[in-house]
Amino acid sequence: MIPFNIIVAVDEEFGIGKEGGLPWHLPGDMKFFKEITTKTEDAQKKNVVIMGRKTWESIPARFRPLPGRINCVLSRNKDFPLPDDVLRAESLEAALKALGGEARESIDKVFIIGGAQIFLLALRMLECQKIYMTQIALDFQCDSFFPSDLTGFEKISESPKAQEGKIVYMFCEYERVDALE
Ligand SMILES: NC(=O)c1ccc[n+]([C@@H]2O[C@H](COP(=O)([O-])OP(=O)(O)OC[C@H]3O[C@@H](n4cnc5c(N)ncnc54)[C@H](OP(=O)(O)O)[C@@H]3O)[C@@H](O)[C@H]2O)c1
Repeated sequence: MIPFNIIVAVDEEFGIGKEGGLPWHLPGDMKFFKEITTKTEDAQKKNVVIMGRKTWESIPARFRPLPGRINCVLSRNKDFPLPDDVLRAESLEAALKALGGEARESIDKVFIIGGAQIFLLALRMLECQKIYMTQIALDFQCDSFFPSDLTGFEKISESPKAQEGKIVYMFCEYERVDALE
């Protein structure tokens, strides 16, 4: 299976979403997300973004698939309609195995971009090397959450605080500890 990173934005209660969408509007975080998930070391290669079916549906139709990246959607429903240029997989393992096969040469990095169901699975896997976590210092009364137990990971960086309107946030990076040994 191909190794991957997680990218997520959490509020102070580890909330990530509400009523099927994001409860905040943070252009600075959207720019960060786009940069991190699009930028490649090798200009010939592309990054992959893997997401659950509900997260796919939460992206406005005009903005999906996310441009400049290979989009992969997880659904147990083989008939869920997706554009031809979007990969589908019936499990996270199947997606990571497929990407780790012949396709690997054309792939730079793989990012799991949500939502809650997929983060829960991904965080438990040893292939999860790094977490890019935007930490927002407010409680948005979310109804979907990122696991708050980050055992196995250590924080390796923390940006200066940013502020948009009343919202203060910072970009943190966590790395798998056992991957460092
Ligand atoms: N703050 C952030 O960084 C962030 C990022 C992404 C999303 N979000 C938020 O998170 C919320 C959505 O999260 P969610 O947990 O409800 O949904 P989700 O994880 O995006 O998608 C769940 C769907 O994925 C499919 N799925 C789940 N596990 C699977 C597996 N093992 N194998 C194959 N398919 C699987 C199923 O689709 P089928 O039902 O079609 O089988 C399931 O209904 C939204 O509010 C969204 O805005 C926040």
